[in-house]
Amino acid sequence: MPNYNLSVNGQSVNVDAPADLALLWVLRDKLGITGPKYGCGTNVCKACTCLIDGKATPTCVTHVSSVVGKKVITIEGLANGATLHPVQQAWLDRDVPQCGFCQPGQIMAAVDLLSRTHTPSDADIDAIENMCRCGTYGRIREAIKAAGAMMG
Ligand code: FES
Ligand code: FES
Repeated sequence: MPNYNLSVNGQSVNVDAPADLALLWVLRDKLGITGPKYGCGTNVCKACTCLIDGKATPTCVTHVSSVVGKKVITIEGLANGATLHPVQQAWLDRDVPQCGFCQPGQIMAAVDLLSRTHTPSDADIDAIENMCRCGTYGRIREAIKAAGAMMG
């Protein structure tokens, strides 16, 4: 079985995995990083979203072999020590989550958006495709704008 050196949350890790194994399963099953969630496995729900070189990416359809040499960040790697990322802080301040299942992916998508603009429009936010069965979209929108203001 091939062996891969990966950069995950700022650490170098080594895993044995088939080349076409989804990064989601490397993270969850081989590395015990369970923030990224499995919803559909088909690039629809986006619950598995992590940052790959800063871009929000569905890890359920991303082969492990394709992320060698890239920086993978999961929700577990977002805070700076004890200091939450502004997006995490805004989420807490506004009690965004309901069941919580989709929220790690939502937060990573928001981080990607705010890395491109600190003042996203409603249309920018609506372009995020992450699904939330609990319908927290209104609070997500408020939290993204608040986080952008914190970051600006
Ligand atoms: S698990 Fe649904 S897009 Fe990845
Ligand atoms: S908070 Fe329940 S699915 Fe989004």
